[in-house]
Order: sequence, then C-alpha cells, then structure tokens
Amino acid sequence: MLIRTPSDIPSSEITPESVYLKRRQFMQGVGAAALGLGLPSAGFAASEDPRKSLDFSPVVKKDGNPFYTDEKTPSFAEASSYNNFYEFGTDKTDPARNAHTLTTDPWSVKVEGHVAKPGNYPLEDIIKLMTLEERIYRLRCVEAWSMVIPWVGFSLADFIKMFEPTSDAKYVEFTTLYRRDEMKGQRSSFSTIDWPYTEGLRMDEAMNPLAFMSVGMYGKTLPNQNGAPIRLVVPWKYGFKSIKSIVRMRFTSIRPKTSWESIAPREYGFYANVNPEVDHPRWTQRYERRLPSSLLSPSRIKTEMFNGYGEQVAGLYKDMNLRRNY
Ligand code: MTE
Repeated sequence: MLIRTPSDIPSSEITPESVYLKRRQFMQGVGAAALGLGLPSAGFAASEDPRKSLDFSPVVKKDGNPFYTDEKTPSFAEASSYNNFYEFGTDKTDPARNAHTLTTDPWSVKVEGHVAKPGNYPLEDIIKLMTLEERIYRLRCVEAWSMVIPWVGFSLADFIKMFEPTSDAKYVEFTTLYRRDEMKGQRSSFSTIDWPYTEGLRMDEAMNPLAFMSVGMYGKTLPNQNGAPIRLVVPWKYGFKSIKSIVRMRFTSIRPKTSWESIAPREYGFYANVNPEVDHPRWTQRYERRLPSSLLSPSRIKTEMFNGYGEQVAGLYKDMNLRRNY
C-alpha cells in the first residue's frame, strides 16, 4: 500500500424472543451487568468477559457453505506476524512488534448518524448480545498477497439492525481509534494517512450476509496487530476495506471519503472489489501470492472475481461499470 509522490500517481427475520428481549434492554441503554447477562454466547467457554479470554469451539462447516473454505490456513503465528496496520508502522512486521502498546479495554463503539438508536455501546455488551460464529474467509490484499483466516465474530447485518437505520442511511462509515500516544504510526511525520483511518460501505454491501465483524481468530481473542478488539471483514473486497480497531460507525446519506481513496484516488477506489480484470496502475491484479509462501514454493495463484464470492455479491453491482467503479 505504500504510495508514490503525487506526481507518480497517474436472520432470518424471526428473532427468538429471548434474544429480542435482551437486545431491547440493551438498546434501552442498560449495561450488561445490570441485565444479568450471565449467558455466554453460543460456542463459548463460560467467561465473565469473553473479549478477554475468547475460547471458541467452532461448529464444523461443510463445502458449499459460503462462510467456509477448506483451503490451507497459515499458522496463527504467521497470520499475526505479517500484517498491514499503518497505525503501528508500514513494514509487515511492525504491527506485531508495536501493537502491544494499544489499550483495548475498556472499548466502546459509537454509533451515530441516520439511526433510531444512536449511542456509545460498550464492547462487552455487544459481544454478549451477538451470536458469535466462526467464518473461514480468504483475505486478498490489494498488494497481491492473500491468506485464509478463520475469524470469530458476528454478522454485520445483525449488528446494524440493532441500531435501526432510517431510510436516509445509504452508507456506513467506520473509523479506527485515534490515539497518538499508543499508536506509533500516528505520530510519524512520514505518514501519508490523515488519521484516523476511515472506511465505508454502501448499506446494501454492509447488509450482505458475508460482511462480518471480527473479535477473534483461530478461536482466540483477536491479537492487537490484527485489529483488536473489533474489526470489519469484507472478504470480496481488497483487504484495506477491512478496517481494524473500530471505535465509530456513522450512518450517512452521502458516500464517505475513505482513507486510501483520499490519498490516492486513482489507485484505490471506494468499492475496491477484488477484480482480476482491473489492474492496479502499478501492478497486475490477475494473480496473488497465497501465504505462507517461500522462494521454493511461491504459491502463485489466479485471483478470482470478487475473491471467489461472486455468487453471494455479484448482484450488488449488476448495473455498475466495475472498471470505472474500482
Ligand atoms: N485498518 C487500519 N486501521 N489500518 C490499516 O493500516 N490495513 C488494511 C486493513 N485494515 C489497515 C486496516 C490492509 S491494507 C489490509 S490488507 C488488512 O487490514 C490486513 O489485515 P491483517 O493484518 O489482519 O492481515
């Protein structure tokens, strides 16, 4: 994602009653403690605060399930030591080295804009109310590498429904934490990003069943370098859309300006759908390096349209020129 100088840049609808009641109390602003939410979400080992000691036992999924793939995953160590998280530096190994400085507790997500239920929602309440599940997704970076990651989290659509967006909500903007004293990259005078990092989705994209909020991976709490304590995962889009360490979601009627689009609009578009037919101005997007790879085993594979999720998402873009709307 390093860029050049500007001159080079040529549920089903039926909610079980118990869940409904819990959510209603939550939306009325009562904290989890007051609710007596002793119930851990499905799949969890009982724990006071699942965010701290996530120990998730996934239900095994089968082929044909869009939330699953049996492609090889890197080890946890590999997936948490090769990262893009510019708040902690621009080298792939910087986030693992520097992200321990991030405080993730307490954490809350501020919800604002065109919703009936705006507010500041503590993460532990969110996690207890959402149904956690595992999804094994391909993550394809715009830099032409990819990994297969087993995430733990919940459906973004289910999350959004809790805030009751109004008909004026056409987009949702996500914002990462801005905390210079804990995020080395935000203090750097060489940084190209106008902090905080922001991203956005059109509402119908956000409501697509594939869109996911992750709080864990490999059955464990999300490591800081992978976007703790809560991040977005949109597997049919280039990885930069999957914004990390989210503190704000704003529902808007106009398209939000996103970080990479603001820096280099000719290189990084708002849609950023994985598309082997539309090259990046400086490299091809036809192929990708599937990690882990090595000199002897480069693992170069063909990139799939929508990262292989066309069946689920192609309909979102059926009337759009994807060459123009990259
Ligand atoms: N989110 C924030 N806040 N800052 C970042 O620099 N990098 C993005 C995305 N989310 C980034 C971010 C990019 S370019 C990619 S490819 C993915 O995170 C990488 O996720 P991973 O490190 O978990 O593999």
